[in-house]
This record gives sequence, structure tokens and C-alpha cells, in this order.
Amino acid sequence: MKIIDCQDYSISIGHSADAIQVFLKSKEYSKIAVLVDDNTRKHCLPLWMDQMDISSWTIIEITSGEEHKNLKTCEYIWKRLLMAGFDRHSLLINLGGGVIGDMGGFCASTYMRGIDFVQVPTTLLSQVDASVGGKLGIDLEFVKNIVGLFTNPKAVLVDRQFLQTLDMPQIRSGFAEVVKHGLIASEDLWNRSKVIAKQGIPISALDNELLHDSILVKKQVVEKDPKEKGLRKILNFGHTVGHAVETYSWSTDKPLLHGEAIYIGMVCENYLAYTKRKLHRKQLDDVNAVLKSIFYSPQATRNGSEIWKILLKDKKNKLDKAFVAFIDQIGSAVYDIEITREEVMESLFYYQKI
Ligand SMILES: NC(=O)c1ccc[n+]([C@@H]2O[C@H](COP(=O)([O-])OP(=O)(O)OC[C@H]3O[C@@H](n4cnc5c(N)ncnc54)[C@H](O)[C@@H]3O)[C@@H](O)[C@H]2O)c1
Repeated sequence: MKIIDCQDYSISIGHSADAIQVFLKSKEYSKIAVLVDDNTRKHCLPLWMDQMDISSWTIIEITSGEEHKNLKTCEYIWKRLLMAGFDRHSLLINLGGGVIGDMGGFCASTYMRGIDFVQVPTTLLSQVDASVGGKLGIDLEFVKNIVGLFTNPKAVLVDRQFLQTLDMPQIRSGFAEVVKHGLIASEDLWNRSKVIAKQGIPISALDNELLHDSILVKKQVVEKDPKEKGLRKILNFGHTVGHAVETYSWSTDKPLLHGEAIYIGMVCENYLAYTKRKLHRKQLDDVNAVLKSIFYSPQATRNGSEIWKILLKDKKNKLDKAFVAFIDQIGSAVYDIEITREEVMESLFYYQKI
């Protein structure tokens, strides 16, 4: 078991059934509920049921999908807790991807002004990204994560066993965050990511060491800047353009997964770094060749003016100015760089030509 100690909780990387039993010995809870969606009930909960007795727990199942990360589902979760007599001394375990983690954490932190919760992320994306940083929230009127708060869980249990039932697009999507962590803060992690990318991202290569090192990057950044006043913005590398491309894709017949859009965002933002003389041409070509080999979809960047309009509305931007974080060498990033419409349009055009 690998452990990453955070300020007031720890992240265990290894067998989650063992880890949860150890955790439960540390505190007496009046009641325990586990929040799952249809997929994690089918694929993840049985792995626990084989290893421990959870018959006294309340199982709360919701329908999978980002479209259910909303107030209506929260109301259902709160009502289930209330009806089952959950009090302030109870625990909610969130067993699922980022949707379950964000929404379950949000429900736990607001139910009775806050009960304990444990995050058990079951997608690669949620293991290496959503598991750290305390950001919880839900969507409103199709605006992502617009209602939420920062609260840390009591523990995070990362278990690679759960990755076995994810399909390849989900693995590739989550791997974008591993790649990003390497590029912004760890040349060693980037070098390992390149090898894994070349092998086609086999699940066997996503070992505890890799998960640990990727999570550690995010943890170290978040700990220095928990409320995203400065340094934490480097984690947005690939996300300024990527998030706009992702949102735009939802209005087309080819919606992108989050990580797929982030590969596009990283390629474009590397180009922005190059045009602003922060990256050399060779660095740009080398990094982008790897990113393109993992995921490439030129049609996703065709409607530049729509993508720019969406980018300007991003809650990370101020007034009508857009800002980006990008790498200035492998393992190092800068943030708060202003970008113009022309620069973004050029980067999207560049993406179509590489
Ligand atoms: N809080 C944060 O810091 C943070 C960071 C990144 C992303 N997020 C949020 O995370 C969400 C995206 O996360 P996600 O990609 O995990 O989405 P998700 O939770 O929707 O999971 C993706 C799909 O995989 C299924 N699934 C989950 N685990 C599985 C398993 N082990 N086997 C088979 N299927 C499984 C889910 O049911 C779902 O259909 C977004 O809502 C995003 O806003 C939050």
C-alpha cells in the first residue's frame, strides 16, 4: 500500500477493501452509506462484497452520467440519507468516477451541515485528478461545476483493480491527466507516459507507482495553493482551449470525453507557448507528436469562432480577457498568460494541419 499524506487526510493506493476496513476501525460511525451509479454497482461494488461484509450498509444508487450531476439527484441522495435516519455521526462512501465523487462529496458536506465522506474513485480520471484538491460540486443549467464548495474527504482510497472494467476511451481520457501532470511538473513522469502511450496504454502499465506519482504532482501543487489564487492554475494546462473544445463538441454529433478534449487543448496551448517564444520548435514538435499519437480529431477544432466564444465565458477568465497556463519546458509551467482571439484561432488552425 502506498500512502500520500495530505494536510488532514491521506490517500491510500492499493487494495481498497483492506484500506476501508482499516479506516472504519479508526472511528465509530452510526450508519454507513455507499453511493454508486449503475455501472459502479455492477462492476465495483461486487469486488468489495467478495472481500467484506457490507450487508448493514445503505446502498444509494443513481443513474450514471454527467447529465445527472445536478440538484435533482442531490435531493434524491439527501432524501435517502434522511429516510434511512442518517445523523451527524454517519459516513458516506463515494464509490465511482468523478461524477459520484463530486456530487457525493457535495451532498455529504451539506447534509446536516456536513458529515464525513470517503472518496473511492473508480475511473482513471477520478483517481489521478478528482481525488485530490477538495473541489466538490454539481452542474446547473448545463454549466459544469457551477454550484459547489471546497471540503476535504476523511480519506481517499485509490485501487487499480477498478480500472479493469473501464473501456479504452475512458482509460485514454483519464491518461490525459497523467500526461498533463508529467508535462507541467515531472519530466520523469512524462518520459514514462511516453512509453505507455507507445504501448497503447495497457491497464497493466497503470501501476501503483504511476498512480502515486501522478497524484503526488497534483497534491503538491494543490497544497501550495488550495484556493487557486496562483500556482494551482498550472493544473489548467490544456483546459482553457480543451474545455471550450469539449463544450462545443456537445452540440455536435461527436461529443468528446473530457480527456480527449484535453489532448487537443494541450496541443493548441503548446502552440500558444511556441508563438509566445516560451517553447522551442523542436520541443513543440516532439511533445505534440506524442499527444497526437494518443488522440487526434481535427474536425473537433473546425468551428474556431464558436470555440472562442465558449472559451471567453469560462469561469476562470475575467471580463473579456482570456488567460492560459502552458509549459515553458518539460516539467515546468507558467500561468496567467493572456491570449487573444487571433492566437487561439491560429492554434486551432495549427491543430488541423499537424
Ligand atoms: N473535483 C475535481 O477536482 C475534478 C477533477 C476532474 C474532473 N472532475 C469531474 O469528474 C467528472 C468526470 O469524471 P469521470 O470521467 O470519472 O466521469 P464519470 O463519473 O461519469 O465516469 C465515467 C463513466 O464510467 C463509469 N464507471 C466508473 N467507474 C467504472 C468502472 N470501474 N468500471 C466501469 N465503468 C465505470 C461511470 O458509471 C460513467 O458511466 C466530471 O463531472 C468532472 O467535472 C472533478
